[in-house]
Amino acid sequence: MRGALRNQRFLTLGIESSCDDTAVAILEGQSKVMSSLISSQLELHAPYGGVVPELASRDHQERILPLLFSAISEAGIKDPSSELGLIGVTAGPGLMGSLLVGVMTAKALAQAWELPLLGVNHLEGHLFANVIHSPQLTPPFLTLLVSGGHTEVILVKAFGDYTLLGCTRDDAAGEAYDKLAKVLGLGYPGGPAIDRLAGLGNGDAFPLPVPMADTLRVEFSFSGLKTAVLNLLHKLESDGAFPVEDVCASFQKAVVRALLVKVDLAVRMTGVKRVALSGGVAANSGLRAAFLAREDWQVFLPPANLCTDNGAMVAAAAYSGYWRGHRSGLDLSPDPALPLVSD
Ligand code: KG4
Ligand code: ZN
Repeated sequence: MRGALRNQRFLTLGIESSCDDTAVAILEGQSKVMSSLISSQLELHAPYGGVVPELASRDHQERILPLLFSAISEAGIKDPSSELGLIGVTAGPGLMGSLLVGVMTAKALAQAWELPLLGVNHLEGHLFANVIHSPQLTPPFLTLLVSGGHTEVILVKAFGDYTLLGCTRDDAAGEAYDKLAKVLGLGYPGGPAIDRLAGLGNGDAFPLPVPMADTLRVEFSFSGLKTAVLNLLHKLESDGAFPVEDVCASFQKAVVRALLVKVDLAVRMTGVKRVALSGGVAANSGLRAAFLAREDWQVFLPPANLCTDNGAMVAAAAYSGYWRGHRSGLDLSPDPALPLVSD
């Protein structure tokens, strides 16, 4: 019987299309990745310095089916209808047009192949990237979720039991990286380029403010830091000296400090010392080094390919939700502002 036995070659198809990456993966059980393919739209959006929603959804439409069939064949699946146990798809948050492509595709396949369907929250997906990489990671743990759209600290009391301890008041950490990169002409997305340049510079060259460092709440704000670094750039320009590596290193030092200080606060507030990083910014070398240096925490870091958007994390979240009893109907519709809710 299909999907009868948990963990016994139960295969989940995960589909992610919430923003600018079309991603599909096949996961066996909770954490064995059988195939994971991503079609990146970086080149498509690069000339615009950010994601253009109309271009994103059109590209998802063109790429999703070929990608899906490649992922299925790479996983050695001959008959999806009898071999797959579940289809998981990101239902939000994200761009409406992009989400629609994934959700409509998942619904059509679920109907054609007579498979159960589960819409998952993209943020829950990100936190499950850690479960794929570290199957020994069990709740309770804290997750710092840092991406282009989110900067949040979540207490995972159990899978399906999430408490948002705090988030950003304005820009997300990844957004701050992308905005600085745009001004510096480093292209989109800016995180990797700034990270690389920061590694060549001196983080103490320009003291930048560490936002919210002294408040006793888990909260972030990156718009003030963005303004401070833009003012610094104007000053350096008028001085005629432009040590871009030092600017990037100083910016990265402030961002990492702002994130670390609040995770530290969350650890003290909850007494939970297992800390997992997730989301695209979790690929940042400065952030990873700062976390790994915390010998008083048990730190979990997914590899870079699981930090950024991927289908495996969606499949893993769907697998967990399915065995917690969740199912979606064929009336599933995407929600661009889908909140992360507990069971
Ligand atoms: O999770 P993700 O792939 O997509 C969203 O859900 O947003 O994250 C993308 C974000 C972008 O803002 C990108 O600049 C940032 O992650 N990012 C990085 C690094 N790699 C990706 N930021 C800092 N350092 C990096 N190495
Ligand atoms: Zn994401």
